[in-house]
Amino acid sequence: MTLSRSALITGASRGIGASIADVLAARGYHLTVSARTQSDVDRVAARLEDSYGISAHGVAADLSQPSELDQLVAAHAARFPRMDALVLNAGMGSLGSIEKLDSERVQQIFQVNFGSAVQLFQASLPYLRAAADLSPGSGARVIALASILGVYPQPKLGAYAASKAALRSLVESINLEHSESGIGATAVCPAYVATDMTAWLKDTVHPEAMIRPDDIAHLVGALVALSPRAVVNEIVVSRAGTDGRIA
Ligand SMILES: NC(=O)c1ccc[n+]([C@@H]2O[C@H](COP(=O)([O-])OP(=O)(O)OC[C@H]3O[C@@H](n4cnc5c(N)ncnc54)[C@H](OP(=O)(O)O)[C@@H]3O)[C@@H](O)[C@H]2O)c1
Repeated sequence: MTLSRSALITGASRGIGASIADVLAARGYHLTVSARTQSDVDRVAARLEDSYGISAHGVAADLSQPSELDQLVAAHAARFPRMDALVLNAGMGSLGSIEKLDSERVQQIFQVNFGSAVQLFQASLPYLRAAADLSPGSGARVIALASILGVYPQPKLGAYAASKAALRSLVESINLEHSESGIGATAVCPAYVATDMTAWLKDTVHPEAMIRPDDIAHLVGALVALSPRAVVNEIVVSRAGTDGRIA
């Protein structure tokens, strides 16, 4: 067991989550990295330990399965007694008009993008409190990867946009209820980021025209460096060359 700072990051096997893992590891955080496939998160954890000399472990969990979420937090707590940052990054996209949305699909999107965030926050709260109590000058941070679509919806992405709007609202509620005791939350709301999630767009928006995963990771690095007196409900990140309201 260690008293050093630690973080739990979901969706850390690739994309934005893997970049956030690099930035936090470079800042000396010990890490629990999660995604659905154990071998993927084991590989990421081994790379982080080799590159940064921190302690990291991979824990497989499927955010669509509520029964796996408390176990994920318990696995973090068994290794690290405090949680200085909870990064709610994993998410799923979904393309389709509202008219044709299937209710099971809507439930799945809301479970992965929103419901899991509520449950992971609830289970993590004792460890976030422990971090805030042990380091009152730094506090503890919850970072949720929402989306610019949760601020300015676009056609054919309505369920995804609604789930991300709900996540933004959750972050505001966390701040209302917990920021005074040192636990602050931020919804990061980017336009298109060049990851696997946006690979289907490559013929309409070239990856070079998208935000880079490490741009988002550096923002997360800045957020965890803030004192708990500074509450940042959300950061909207637009793409260069757009009017700032489109993904
Ligand atoms: N890329 C964008 O343009 C963009 C823009 C705004 C917001 N975001 C948000 O940013 C976050 C990260 O996106 P990304 O672009 O980095 O996506 P990505 O490259 O597709 O990576 C998604 C990550 O989430 C994990 N994941 C997916 N479904 C999961 C599930 N049911 N349970 C557990 N883990 C799951 C994936 O791992 P496994 O598949 O191995 O489980 C992977 O590690 C998401 O919340 C996304 O909505 C992305």
